[in-house]
Amino acid sequence: MYFRIGIIFYLWHLYRVCADSALVYKSTNIECFPDPAFAVNATCYLKAINWNKAVAYMDCDLILPLANTSVHIELFKRDYSNRYHPFLVNAVVNLCDIISKRNFFTYGMMFWKVIKKYTNVNHSCPIKGHLLARNLYIDEKLMPNFPLGFYLFSLKFYENYADGPARFVGTVKFYVNVKEMVKIKQQ
Ligand SMILES: *[C@@H]1O[C@H](CO)[C@@H](O)[C@H](O)[C@H]1NC(C)=O
Ligand SMILES: *[C@@H]1O[C@H](CO)[C@@H](O)[C@H](O)[C@H]1NC(C)=O
Ligand SMILES: *[C@@H]1O[C@H](CO)[C@@H](O)[C@H](O)[C@H]1NC(C)=O
Repeated sequence: MYFRIGIIFYLWHLYRVCADSALVYKSTNIECFPDPAFAVNATCYLKAINWNKAVAYMDCDLILPLANTSVHIELFKRDYSNRYHPFLVNAVVNLCDIISKRNFFTYGMMFWKVIKKYTNVNHSCPIKGHLLARNLYIDEKLMPNFPLGFYLFSLKFYENYADGPARFVGTVKFYVNVKEMVKIKQQ
C-alpha cells in the first residue's frame, strides 16, 4: 500500500519537475485549542502576505512547564464533500528530544527547523512562560510534492511527566491549500 503510494508520488514528482510549475503550500487557517490547565491567554491567527503566502502568529502563557512533551502529527486531505480523511502522515515525535537533537528522523528534523526559525524556543526542555511563534509558514522546499488540494495538519501535544500518565496539553490545527503558484507581476 505505502510502496504503491510512494511510486505514485515519485511519478507525480517527475511530472511536476518536467512541467516546471511551482507548488505553494498556502496557509488558509489556524486554530489553537489549549487545555487551560496548561496554557492560557492563547491567540492564534494568520496574516496574509500575498496570493501565495500567509503567515501564522501564536502566543500563549504556559501555566505548567513542558518537560517531556510529545506531539501526535496527523495529516488529513479534504475530499469533494469537504470531509477530511487521513493522508500519509500519522506519527508521534518527542518534542524535547527533537529540541535537544536526540531525534534525527525525518519529521523530527523538519519540526526542529520550524521551531528554531519561527518560535522563541531556542533551548532544551523544560519550556516555561510565554510561548510565541511569528511569521510561521510551510516552506515548500521542505515538503514533498503533495497532490493539489486542501489539507489539515493536526498537532496534538501531550505532556509525559515522569510520575504519571500522559496529559493533554492542546491541539493546533493548521489548514493548508496546496496549489499552483500565482505568478506575481514585478512592479
Ligand atoms: C494572562 O494575561 C493576563 C493579562 O495580560 C496576565 O495578567 C496574566 O499574568 C497572564 N497569565 C499568565 C499565566 O501569564
Ligand atoms: C534564546 O533567545 C533569547 C531571547 O531571544 C536570548 O536572550 C538567549 O540568549 C537565547 N539563548 C540561546 C541559548 O540561544
Ligand atoms: C518521556 O516520555 C516518554 C513518552 O513519550 C516516556 O516513555 C518516558 O518515560 C518519559 N521520560 C521521562 C523522564 O519522564
